[in-house]
Amino acid sequence: MPRYRVRPLGDRFGVEVTGLDLSAGIRPDEMAALRRQFHDSQLMVIRGQNIEPRRFLWFARHFGRPQPHIAAHLRHKEVPEILPLSNIFVDDKPIGIFDGAAFWHQDMAYEDVASNATIVHAIETPDRGGDTLFADMWAAYDALEPGMRERISGLVARHRYGNRADEDYRTRAKAMELTAEEQRRVHDVYHPLVLAHPVTGRRALYGVASTSRGIRGLEDAEARALLDALGRHASQDRFVQAHRYQVGDIVLWDNFSLMHKATPIDRANGPETRRYLHRISTKDLLTAA
Ligand SMILES: [Fe+2]
Repeated sequence: MPRYRVRPLGDRFGVEVTGLDLSAGIRPDEMAALRRQFHDSQLMVIRGQNIEPRRFLWFARHFGRPQPHIAAHLRHKEVPEILPLSNIFVDDKPIGIFDGAAFWHQDMAYEDVASNATIVHAIETPDRGGDTLFADMWAAYDALEPGMRERISGLVARHRYGNRADEDYRTRAKAMELTAEEQRRVHDVYHPLVLAHPVTGRRALYGVASTSRGIRGLEDAEARALLDALGRHASQDRFVQAHRYQVGDIVLWDNFSLMHKATPIDRANGPETRRYLHRISTKDLLTAA
């Protein structure tokens, strides 16, 4: 029997896990149960973890292959698989990504193999602001009219880094700006609009916002109209839940069945406004330890 406790996190989806201490270790049967729980729950918050970056990396490896972010200059200096997120400025420079992706997206949908999971460790959290919003793409798919489910069945979307609704890097709905070298590696990739989860087999709408630019076999204007309609459908309040981070939270989300967006936060100007998180995104869960 696992030694930890699990209870619902919110009204719609997700679970909260308490009674675990990842710095002390975890039995293989508990880790296996945790993985099953994660794949059934989409969003899992493990409370109260005080662990070093390398231990965080060790934990993340159980959920997939950690991927350093495409923007190399933003990576953690000692553990490059970690992307720091922060509103703390030193010498007028943020010590992590300050303006995160404040638009609906699924991590690394712009890569040939998209991210299966993103895992965040909250080290400092503000009293207010900085929540992450999640939208349930399983429920959004299930709620589509049968005719729409039929129309999108088998369709494949074309994705590219960025946000199709706002390509201006100066606004707050932008994607992270890339260097010229990083931009040269960006290319079109293709993912199905309806994705069967590789573990549970459950169908979700996938990649209907931001990185999708077109659909194979459709004119771009028609494809964009369809993608925009699906994006509006999937981001309705009835599918959305916010997570407010507490210090010590390890938050895992399933990128195949949730989309997410950051809520903008101002620069820290005191201890109660500081936000500092570590993020790891993984791929290839089926080959994870
Ligand atoms: Fe993200």
